[in-house]
Amino acid sequence: MEQSQYRLEMKHISKRFGGVQALNDVSLQIEPGEIHALIGENGAGKSTLMKILSGAYKRDSGTIHIDGREVTINNPKDAKDLGAAIIYQEFMLAPDLTVAENIYIDQLSSGKTLINWKELNTKTKEQLTKLGFDDISPMAKVGSLSVAYQQVVEICKNLTRNAKILVLDEPTAVLTFAEIQKLFGILRKLRDAGVSIIYISHRLEEIFELSDHITVLKDGTFVDRVETSSINKEKLVTMMVGREMSQMFPPRNAKIGEEVLRVEHLNAGKMVQDISFHVRSGEILGFSGLVGAGRTETMKAIFGAAKKESGEIYYFGEKTDFKDASDSIKKGFGMLPENRKEEGLVLTQSIRSNSTFTILNNKIAPKQVINHKKEKEYVRNLLASMSTKYKDTEDNANSLSGGNQQKVALAKWLAAECKCLVFDEPTRGVDVGAKTEIYKIMNDLAEKGVAIIMISSEMTEIIGMCDRAIVMRQGRISGEFSRAELAEDNLIKSAMGV
Ligand SMILES: Nc1ncnc2c1ncn2[C@@H]1O[C@H](COP(=O)(O)OP(=O)(O)OP(=O)(O)O)[C@@H](O)[C@H]1O
Ligand SMILES: [Mg+2]
Repeated sequence: MEQSQYRLEMKHISKRFGGVQALNDVSLQIEPGEIHALIGENGAGKSTLMKILSGAYKRDSGTIHIDGREVTINNPKDAKDLGAAIIYQEFMLAPDLTVAENIYIDQLSSGKTLINWKELNTKTKEQLTKLGFDDISPMAKVGSLSVAYQQVVEICKNLTRNAKILVLDEPTAVLTFAEIQKLFGILRKLRDAGVSIIYISHRLEEIFELSDHITVLKDGTFVDRVETSSINKEKLVTMMVGREMSQMFPPRNAKIGEEVLRVEHLNAGKMVQDISFHVRSGEILGFSGLVGAGRTETMKAIFGAAKKESGEIYYFGEKTDFKDASDSIKKGFGMLPENRKEEGLVLTQSIRSNSTFTILNNKIAPKQVINHKKEKEYVRNLLASMSTKYKDTEDNANSLSGGNQQKVALAKWLAAECKCLVFDEPTRGVDVGAKTEIYKIMNDLAEKGVAIIMISSEMTEIIGMCDRAIVMRQGRISGEFSRAELAEDNLIKSAMGV
């Protein structure tokens, strides 16, 4: 038998979706016991390549080899039997089942009629404790957990299947500082135990911290495979975007004007306690903190998407109650949600309708008659301003790569022309070039006088973008920092309660 130094080799892989050549003669070589970063811009083909490995997509051509032997992967079961486990970017858990049921769902659906629930819960508890998350209850419904904890459950589920190739597609996009460090600890342990890990991320700091090798894809083609220690960040970015990037955070010229939104002593359950703040026209106000600190809940309570118990909201100086989301939008107050799959996008509808449903009855169709030609052109311009990669405005949103879905989710709020906009983790899953484009859009909006609130777990982006930042911790405001005071250690200390 042929000997190979590689645990996994994918050779000359090509894949086309209709008119889109998602992958063109791409190769990937992964060693045993290494962490291998797979990077590239939104739509480069990373997820598609991994879905071919997992048997979710059929390749048009190319071969897959594990430990030197060519293998057949035609469906997800083939991949699982070969020890390849994939944790998807948009992970798939059953929200109404418990943590334990989700983790052992294979066994539960295998037709065995007698299930020892006590044992199942004990085993789950052990697994979670091993991963360092003993605060997750095996009996909790997955849908009631934060996105971060759902991610942990997904990882745990795949680890219990004895994977020797573990793929993580943007796992940290929803995790915070402390959780990421925990995850990295888990991954290093697995690597040292001989597991090969393929790690997809748009966060370059993580790639340098974690990976042994890097493979770069661009527009569906293979660019290079390099040793991480032999390259620096600037070179890597140049490889990814095909040009040098001068500045991550574009310059700001907005003038800060009148107060747009003031919130006083807002209470809404455990996660929103006595919240008071204001934001002015042209200002970008950051909301920093750990995942689960109550930032999204606070904004939802203001926006009318969640019930508030007490407290006052003043909008342009007038006491206002935003009854529900549509009332808010009518009054020019918008919110781009963090969880694009559940709230931000209707994946089974067209890119066009996803981009415009916030404005259909005023801008494009003032008399309730929709002019499709006008609407399409409008959407095309909007998406072009964010360099969104898509084929046709009529394609379903689920044909887009993760990062491009985020841009479509953003598009409808730009279309809505709000006076106050909440961006909840706006650059999650978005590549370096597109991040800068989104920052530019935020700056442009601020220059036009929009008051912007940005919830972000990435401290660099809070520091790079905000005029002022509020830190939340366990449902309360734990600190406020002016632009001059914005520094990573201030934000961390405040977020962790030090
Ligand atoms: N099911 C599908 N139908 C049609 N086109 C698809 C489908 N899945 C992916 N594509 C297209 O294939 C290309 C590669 O997408 P892929 O999801 O692999 O990118 P990616 O590198 O993972 O990007 P991101 O960083 O945004 O997640 C994109 O142009 C995308 O629109
Ligand atoms: Mg992807």
